[in-house]
Amino acid sequence: MTMHRVHFRNENVTIHVPEGSNLRQACMEHGVDPYPALGGLLSCRGKGLCGTCVVQVDDDAALSTPDAREAKRLKGFPSSLENLRLSCRCQVVGDVIVVTDPDLEPAWKTHGFYSGEPVRSWKLPEDA
Ligand code: FES
Repeated sequence: MTMHRVHFRNENVTIHVPEGSNLRQACMEHGVDPYPALGGLLSCRGKGLCGTCVVQVDDDAALSTPDAREAKRLKGFPSSLENLRLSCRCQVVGDVIVVTDPDLEPAWKTHGFYSGEPVRSWKLPEDA
């Protein structure tokens, strides 16, 4: 049986799991909480719908290819963050480093107004 190393960076925990292990399941079995709050109490519990189990990984190829549901749900996350995956929908197929609860800046926060960029003009388009 092929084993893979999974390192959880925030928790500084390293585990070894058999090829094909579900990442969310591996988290839960080793005391790593993949959810940002309430231990996933309000999550969809692995159905790929809520997105609360999202993690960031160093190497996307170390996880199975996203299925249609995961790919669809991932479109709702900021495209500026690479290698986001739903831990409930992917299987481990290689050594991987995982960041639970990645820093997901809401899209509105990246807008110049909120990021402190000087406002160039307060005029409405029809006033210009
Ligand atoms: S637990 Fe809901 S998407 Fe993973």
